[in-house]
Amino acid sequence: MYLHAALVGLVLQLHFGATHKLVCYISSWSSQGMAQFKVDHVDPFLCTHLVVTFTDINGSYELEPHDHQLYHSFNRLKLRNPKLKTLLATGGQHFNGTLFSQMISIKAHRTAFIHSVLKVVRTFGFDGLDLVQKYPYVFPRGLKDEAKFTSLARELRLAFDRESSRSGKRRLVLSTTLSPWEQMAGSDFHKYVDFISLMSYDLHGPWQGVTGHSSPLYSGGTSQNDLYLNINQMVKYWLYRKIPARKLLLGFAVYSRTFELQGREHGMGAPAKEGGPGKYTKTTGFMALFEVCQFIESGATVKWSKNQQVPYAYKGKQWLGFENQHSLRKKVKWLTHLDLGGAMVWSLDLDDFTGTSCHQGKYPFIKQLKSSLLAQRKK
Ligand SMILES: *[C@@H]1O[C@H](CO)[C@@H](O)[C@H](O)[C@H]1NC(C)=O
Ligand SMILES: *[C@@H]1O[C@H](CO)[C@@H](O)[C@H](O)[C@H]1NC(C)=O
Repeated sequence: MYLHAALVGLVLQLHFGATHKLVCYISSWSSQGMAQFKVDHVDPFLCTHLVVTFTDINGSYELEPHDHQLYHSFNRLKLRNPKLKTLLATGGQHFNGTLFSQMISIKAHRTAFIHSVLKVVRTFGFDGLDLVQKYPYVFPRGLKDEAKFTSLARELRLAFDRESSRSGKRRLVLSTTLSPWEQMAGSDFHKYVDFISLMSYDLHGPWQGVTGHSSPLYSGGTSQNDLYLNINQMVKYWLYRKIPARKLLLGFAVYSRTFELQGREHGMGAPAKEGGPGKYTKTTGFMALFEVCQFIESGATVKWSKNQQVPYAYKGKQWLGFENQHSLRKKVKWLTHLDLGGAMVWSLDLDDFTGTSCHQGKYPFIKQLKSSLLAQRKK
């Protein structure tokens, strides 16, 4: 029975890996819902790549691993699925931008960083490094930083190539995660990275004072400027700038931005401020998927935006945009049509990883996304 399930999983994984990537972040090991997210919760067959956040750099521009025990036990997941790739992420929201700027500006600092990357990544048995743009949208700032970032990517890739020929080990993977409206689309850093995950969400949020979906596929078709930000337009810009489609992964958020309606309107673009926090995640304006599904089950009204091809829901004064089976399928169909390399998911720990909140089994969001990717592939 168990053996059979494992074999089926393996076969699916092999098929799947040959075409679309499914890169899943783990953003937090802290308490989510009633359970604490642990390595034991990770299904090593769910995604093709798992990315652990975040390792910072210190005053000598070197990566400083936080939790040795965790990194080791995390990489032992590959004993169960040898096809799985694990990446260590550096950068992100709480990253020290000053240090990063100093690091990318001077060759000697970049070299110190690159040496530490090789050491840390190999010591813990990761398969590569993911460089994440500081959020919200701080690096790189303009053309000069773009050139420096490209230098960093080139030097990292060269170091990975050399290390591989010296050690005889498989070359380390280099990936990057960027916001979709980044000017980076113009630079040639993409030559040096294996793939680029686009943070194609948070395109709209409560900070704009009106309701809107964080990840609409198409334009809302209104005159409101913000509602024009949409995936189709942004990704096509990257393709227009000659970034290879197969290197681009479309990002999916396993969370919603929440709004509190200010008046009687409850459609897209209705006056609203930041909504309440989720019961467990306790962050204002934010709900993890395992909270969103409970909100919807509690009798919220669900609507479909025909223009933007995404659903939203409201109940009383609470409003949120989310993804369902229908919108995931639409996006996957769209990304397959453009021949993108696959999907990135932020993040594993925001899905219903215990299966107790949404009552749709474990990881309902990511499993739905994965089955949509598989279904498109078979066509
Ligand atoms: C930075 O981290 C590295 C690796 O852990 C360590 O060897 C180095 O001494 C640290 N530098 C500073 C200034 O903390
Ligand atoms: C960032 O690093 C610089 C240089 O080491 C340090 O002076 C500064 O305090 C750090 N900033 C934060 C927010 O940690």
